[in-house]
Amino acid sequence: MKHPQKVEIDEIAFILSKEEIDEKLFALADEIRQKYLGKAVYIRGIIEFSNYCKNNCLYCGIRAQNKDITRYRMSIEQIIQRARLISQMGIKTIVLQSGEDTYYNSDMIAQLVKKIKEFNVAITLSIGERNFDEYKLWKDMGADRYLMRHETADEKLYEKLHPNDSFKTRVEHLKKLKELGYEVGAGSMVGLPDQDDLSLAKDILFVRDLDADMVGIGPFIPHPSTPLKNAKSGTLNKTLKMIALTRLFLPDTNIPATTALGTIHPLGRQLALKCGANVIMPNFTPLPYRSLYTLYPNKICIFENDIACAECTKNLVISAGYSVSNDFGYRRRFNEYITCRV
Ligand code: 5AD
Ligand code: FES
Repeated sequence: MKHPQKVEIDEIAFILSKEEIDEKLFALADEIRQKYLGKAVYIRGIIEFSNYCKNNCLYCGIRAQNKDITRYRMSIEQIIQRARLISQMGIKTIVLQSGEDTYYNSDMIAQLVKKIKEFNVAITLSIGERNFDEYKLWKDMGADRYLMRHETADEKLYEKLHPNDSFKTRVEHLKKLKELGYEVGAGSMVGLPDQDDLSLAKDILFVRDLDADMVGIGPFIPHPSTPLKNAKSGTLNKTLKMIALTRLFLPDTNIPATTALGTIHPLGRQLALKCGANVIMPNFTPLPYRSLYTLYPNKICIFENDIACAECTKNLVISAGYSVSNDFGYRRRFNEYITCRV
């Protein structure tokens, strides 16, 4: 007899392998999402505060070895101003994202968290792998969540894509963050070179076993100044299927309709909301920096004026048939007994 996990992997891979649009899967994911989370969509304002990065992830446009981009760093004061503006607009989560940039030391991030917390918002950090002591300090200062995608649960592929880093380390960090009491976000890209349906199935089981509080899934989009410039992009259909399957395995987790999905298809984010996603992240990176945070090319929203994304995403949510939530958007657990199994 096959091991149950093996049956699951094979079944998920089979669903993913079918070319056609799986309306039944999408409808089921939406039904589950509405059963556990209703029609509410949480809004998170994201500030991409630095595009410096010490890493060289093969897929990423801000990798250290990319000399074709202009680098920027926002000052702590600038970031705080921006966070204040977001909170004044009634948005209750602020996501602080950057490349892995150790220019911002433990104390600077701690100060940032402490000040922004005064605006009565939830804070999500998305600044890559740091020391365990730093994670602890920032949690103590009031940080609520940490986003760090696992990128791919295919260990060999992970190591090919991330020079000098290992999948094992990534898992240790995610587990540590959970242990410290953060809401933890993992997630993966869809359509990476050499990624097959079996490895995508592993991504689903990985976030299930981690009991991830947030799962970000977007298509891989080749960036012209990276070693993967000639690779193919991930597809809309497969990314939507990954989102829908994630919703089936984690009925109450928070899943964003990602900007990358909106980049490969004009209705990408609306469609994601209709098949399991329940979060959207308007871009609040100020000009002139916004167009420089180019993880991938043709990113949407970079020509929008300043705070336009807030209105735009709210309209998008309503046009897709959902409602804008003014809540902090913590994970609404329906079953306290599920715990991390990784
Ligand atoms: N295409 C799509 N997504 C990308 N990311 C980084 N580079 C790319 C790319 N070329 C994603 C990674 C990272 C997140 C912030 O952006 O999954 O974790
Ligand atoms: Fe940025 Fe629509 S979300 S312009």
